[in-house]
Amino acid sequence: MRISGAKNSALKLMAACVLAEGTHVLSNVPDIADVQLMAGVLEALGMTVRRGDGGVTEIVRDVPLQPEAPYELVEQMRASTAVLGPLLAAVGEARVAMPGGDDFGARPIDMHLRGLEALGAAFELDHGVIHGRTDGLRGAEIVLDYPSVGATENLLMAAVLAEGHTVITNAAREPEIADLAAFLNRMGARVVGAGSARIDIDGVAGLRAVSHAVVPDRLEVATFLAALGVAGGELRLTHSRPDHLELLIDRMGAMGIRVSPDGDGLWAMRRARPRPVDVATLPYPGLATDVLPLLVAVLCFADGTSFATENVFAGRFGYVGELARMGAHIKVEDHHLVIDGVEQLSGAPVRAPDIRAGAALVVAALGAEGETVVLNGEHIDRGYESFDRKLRAVGADVERLADDTDGR
Ligand code: EPU
Repeated sequence: MRISGAKNSALKLMAACVLAEGTHVLSNVPDIADVQLMAGVLEALGMTVRRGDGGVTEIVRDVPLQPEAPYELVEQMRASTAVLGPLLAAVGEARVAMPGGDDFGARPIDMHLRGLEALGAAFELDHGVIHGRTDGLRGAEIVLDYPSVGATENLLMAAVLAEGHTVITNAAREPEIADLAAFLNRMGARVVGAGSARIDIDGVAGLRAVSHAVVPDRLEVATFLAALGVAGGELRLTHSRPDHLELLIDRMGAMGIRVSPDGDGLWAMRRARPRPVDVATLPYPGLATDVLPLLVAVLCFADGTSFATENVFAGRFGYVGELARMGAHIKVEDHHLVIDGVEQLSGAPVRAPDIRAGAALVVAALGAEGETVVLNGEHIDRGYESFDRKLRAVGADVERLADDTDGR
């Protein structure tokens, strides 16, 4: 089964297209709802987005930009805030609706704003809209309080056109950040160290439109490995990067799921019931917060008790009650879970609270006796390309129900 391009890279690469006039060509862009939302944001700015075959997307910036990302779009997708840095750098002004809370809790963007201020932007909050202006960004030394993915990306995209040298310390190290820097460098930027905790950027006067292929989605790989963990058997995933998943593969190994590199992807096998393990999320290269619900879904079936700790987002346990409706034995203690494995779950109607938790419920359903209906499935479509088709292709019995008033 072929793995798609990474949502969390594609969205930021699209935002980076704000930085240069001309026609950008991104390939391996996943066909998912969040990409359509980001296309909507770029169109609202005055750009054109054309989707071709095989994930090829042309993004054209040819007219003066309207530097405003409207609330209707930002409200639906927090990643819309990724245009803040590029707009300030490209046109000196940005109006972006302030994102509200979401299913993970408050999720502030204070580090994005503080870093952009250090680069010479000034902000005011105007009726729910963050209004940023600058008369020219200047390089600065920025130390992040926490290696935030979104803040690192916004600052990187702003600093490439700032005058002089910028250093971002305690930067996030996710593979999607290295992918963004590779795209920016191809456009003519001078970025060194992306993917490590220190990023050095020498500002340049201008960038040009280029072509770039989006890095494979490590979270889609994790999702299919979790499906294997529940259902057993063998799985070959092509066009994927196991080197972006070292900790997950280590934990999977401890659970008895064998994963080996294979050609341009990986091969995995699970024979016996999963063994219990302890898992804890951390910023990359730690275990990704996005994979925890998927691992928990597998650990529901483990032969013993596992402990899981969420260190990145407080309040990301909305799915636990849904798994309990299917018969899982999970106790929540602050930001820890205690999971007593059972041999089988029991299919039930459940509600997807967000993208990864929704996928985790589908994964858990593979080991549930009877039928599971996952409501609010549109959350899953935000981040997964043809999820039901791909699951069927590896042997799962899954079908998409027509949209109805229940939001199925
Ligand atoms: N934080 C702050 N202030 C800030 C920024 C972040 O307090 O200014 C806090 C957050 O509240 C959170 C922590 O820092 O507790 C980490 O947030 P981060 O900024 O790293 O996350 P993000 O950029 O908002 C991206 C992904 C998420 C993924 C996280 C962590 C995208 C579009 N989203 O979010 O992916 O969980 O990094 O790896 O890149 C998903 O794909 O389903 C998803 C939610």
